[in-house]
Amino acid sequence: MTDAPEQQHQPAPSAEPGRGARIEVRKLGKAYIHNGKPLEVLSDVDLLLEPGDMVAIVGASGVGKSTFLQILGTLDLPTSGSIKFDGEELTRMNASRLAEFRNQRIGFVFQFHHLLPEFTALENVMMPALIQRTAIPRARKLAADILGRVGLSHRLTHRPSELSGGEQQRVALARAMVLEPSLLLADEPTGNLDRSTGEAIHQLFLELNQERGSTLLVVTHNPDLARLMPRRMRMVDRGRLVEDTEHGYRGTQSTEASEQIAAPVGEGASS
Ligand SMILES: Nc1ncnc2c1ncn2[C@@H]1O[C@H](COP(=O)(O)OP(=O)(O)OP(=O)(O)O)[C@@H](O)[C@H]1O
Ligand SMILES: [Mg+2]
Repeated sequence: MTDAPEQQHQPAPSAEPGRGARIEVRKLGKAYIHNGKPLEVLSDVDLLLEPGDMVAIVGASGVGKSTFLQILGTLDLPTSGSIKFDGEELTRMNASRLAEFRNQRIGFVFQFHHLLPEFTALENVMMPALIQRTAIPRARKLAADILGRVGLSHRLTHRPSELSGGEQQRVALARAMVLEPSLLLADEPTGNLDRSTGEAIHQLFLELNQERGSTLLVVTHNPDLARLMPRRMRMVDRGRLVEDTEHGYRGTQSTEASEQIAAPVGEGASS
C-alpha cells in the first residue's frame, strides 16, 4: 500500500451508488508480524465478483476469512497484490480518499453490531449519511425508511441497550445499507443470535440486497446462511478460494461441509 498521489477518481459508469460494484482481487497477500517474525495468512488470493453477485465464503476457523474481508473493506492493508473496485485500484488510494470511499461505497455488518451506545437506533443509522454531509432532515428520512424496512419503526428512539439482540443486529443491517453501498460485507452477521431470529434476518438481508443490487460478500460458519447465497466459496490454505458446489468443492478434495466449517485451523485458532 502506498500513499501515492491520487490519480483519476472519476467513477466508472457502473459506479453509481446503489449499484453493485465489480471487484477484482489479484494475488492478494497479507502477512502479520508476530513476535518479530512474519506470519503469512493470505497468499496469492484471487477473486472476481461481478456487480450484484451474492457470495458466501465458508472455511475453517483461522484460515483468514475475516482478514480478507477487512482488507476488501479497506479497514486493513494488504502486504501485496491488487484490489480493483469498479476498475479503481484501492491499494493506491491515499488515506483521506480511502475514508471517503469507504463511507460512500462500502457497508459492513459484523457479528457484534458495534452500534454507538449513547445514540438511538435512528441516530446510529443516520450516522453514515451525516458523515457524508447529507442534510439532517434527509439523513433522518433515509434512516427512518430503512429502519421501517427492517421492522423497527416502533423502536427509533431506543438506545442499543434498550433493544433485543436481534433488533440490534437489524439496526446494524440498516446502518450498513442506508447509503445503498456498492459493496456490502458481512462477517458472521447473525453469529450471536438464536436460530429463528438469525433465519429471519438472513431472509431480510437477502431480500433487501436483491432490491438494492449491492455486491454482497458474507463470511459465515452458518450452513443455512451459506446455502441461501447463489454462489458459495470455500477458503482453504493461505486464503485460496475455491468454488463450493453441492457435491463437493471444485478444484479441491471433496469434504463434508459441516465438518470443515466447524474445524479450527492449527492450534489456538479463533476468530
Ligand atoms: N493482528 C494479528 N497479528 C497476528 N496474527 C493475526 C492477527 N490477526 C489475525 N491473525 C491470525 O491470522 C489468522 C487468520 O485470522 P482470521 O481472523 O482472518 O480468521 P478467520 O478465518 O476469520 O477465523 P474465524 O472463522 O475463527 O473467525 C489466524 O490464525 C489469526 O490468529
Ligand atoms: Mg473471522
